[in-house]
Amino acid sequence: MKGLTSATIPRRHFDAVVVGAGGAGMRCSLQLAQAGLKVAVLSKVFPTRSHTVAAQGGIGASLGNMSEDNWYWHMYDTVKGSDWLGDQDAIEFMCREATSAVYELEHFGMPFDRNADGTIYQRPFGGHTANFGEKPVQRACAAADRTGHALLHTLYQRNVAARTQFFVEWMALDLVRDADGAVVGVTALEMETGDIYLFEAKQTVLATGGAGRIWAASTNAFINTGDGLGMVARAGIPLQDMEFWQFHPTGVSGAGVLITEGVRGEGGYLLNKDGERFMERYAPTLKDLAPRDFVSRSMDQEIKEGRGCGPNKDHVLLKLDHLGEEVIKKRLPSIREIAIRFGNVDPCKDPIPVVPTIHYMMGGIPANYHGQVVTWKDGKEEVVPGLYAVGECAAVSVHGANRLGTNSLLDLVVFGRAAGNHIVNSHPERQKANSEATNESIDRSLHRVLELENRTSGASVAETGQAIRLTMQQHCGVFRTLDLLNKGVEKIDELVPQAHNIYFKDKSKVFNTARIEALELLNMIEVARATVKSAANRTESRGAHALNDHPERDDENWLRHTLWHSEDGRLEYKPVHMKPLTVDTFPPKPRTF
Ligand code: FUM
Repeated sequence: MKGLTSATIPRRHFDAVVVGAGGAGMRCSLQLAQAGLKVAVLSKVFPTRSHTVAAQGGIGASLGNMSEDNWYWHMYDTVKGSDWLGDQDAIEFMCREATSAVYELEHFGMPFDRNADGTIYQRPFGGHTANFGEKPVQRACAAADRTGHALLHTLYQRNVAARTQFFVEWMALDLVRDADGAVVGVTALEMETGDIYLFEAKQTVLATGGAGRIWAASTNAFINTGDGLGMVARAGIPLQDMEFWQFHPTGVSGAGVLITEGVRGEGGYLLNKDGERFMERYAPTLKDLAPRDFVSRSMDQEIKEGRGCGPNKDHVLLKLDHLGEEVIKKRLPSIREIAIRFGNVDPCKDPIPVVPTIHYMMGGIPANYHGQVVTWKDGKEEVVPGLYAVGECAAVSVHGANRLGTNSLLDLVVFGRAAGNHIVNSHPERQKANSEATNESIDRSLHRVLELENRTSGASVAETGQAIRLTMQQHCGVFRTLDLLNKGVEKIDELVPQAHNIYFKDKSKVFNTARIEALELLNMIEVARATVKSAANRTESRGAHALNDHPERDDENWLRHTLWHSEDGRLEYKPVHMKPLTVDTFPPKPRTF
């Protein structure tokens, strides 16, 4: 690594490079490889270990196999679920594409559960309704409680057949640009050797997933450190709506492991210490199947008001034994295993102790519904040539201020495919741009990594990471106050110089995970900065951003997207796309369930 420069860096050349091998990355790469493009997928882990594998309950699509349904109701639920911060053009696109995307997965061989008539099994899920909120609808297409696992394996096998080239255990470091500012690839580290390469490609797709590991308690895999967000932030591209993070209502208390909302979809419900099914009080129509922000806040309130369970009254209970052993073992087999291993209860007999746990990032890299990354200039969105973002790392924005369960897997395949199509169509034109990465952009990346490499003293990576996680946990929870958030901004700002002074002792090259953790931390600090700063400035409550001191939604002042810039911590705002593609706007209204 010593002495490595833009002149000596080894280079690989592809038509397109995709960073991340979860559902979005692999759905995109499949589209590209099938069209004959030479495509590289870089992944920190073996593709089928990407975090999509942990998605449990289902993928949303209005197939109407088990109760009447249509894409327009799905669109309404998604707009309402987003607390009107979702872009209605992108939401219409996703809900219309949902059925074909799911049937396509079925034809790829994805092993969905089946109804007696052979159609795909669908269960109810939070916030998904028939007839504009009248009653829950069965929209979550499920493969038991392992839908993400089934999806990921299906896409991996299809990619292998299509000759996608996987670079397994590679970490992308930075975007590189040509003299006109177009993105023309990435620098990346091969973990096995510790060597750094340049991947040159006229089209780069970021599909790096979430960043839930900036919190102490999270349903996210350890790999979810916001690498794509760090890359764009360092490249001068703003991050959007970073104040909006979803707490999943049912993480196993003390362990954080996800217990799918599909449990409540199958008929499970939440109880407080008095044995009361308290969601009936908060959401009389949808009860336990209200959207996640709503359920998480209700649980938090029960706990705060002393109706939590256990010796410390710090959790509530998820009851499902009444579903019967047969249903639990058939529809929720992994949940039973997780409850036994992590909660020490057999849910066929006893309720599972659960607490709201950080789960999903609604904000991210600003992108349009073709997957193209956009910045905001002179009151207009401007495409960054050559750069796409799909999946959880992107803010398209279909989830706005709060995502509905099952819309995440859907987002991955719909926008992975859409970005793939857009890249294939623009490929001939992009090929004509005879541009190369500038030496300056390659050397900037190498300088950053070599500076870290050469540091022999400084701050501990583990301690700095822990300080970030505890600050986020204490200052950016389910309920927030401006005072707490502002103190969070101060604490994270204080950690910035420390994060930029981290070092690791062991400089060996082969599979050195200390080096990877240090590089990940430099991405996590960007995500944490963006989150607390964006949150402290939004003086209203909307979706997952619930401020005690500003409890109401304020459409007049805040029906707009936040943009945060890393270089100076500056915030700016841009309008929400209220106009759908073909139908009328769903105008904002109070959100009751
Ligand atoms: O509850 C769940 O199964 C999670 C699904 C999702 O986040 O969409």
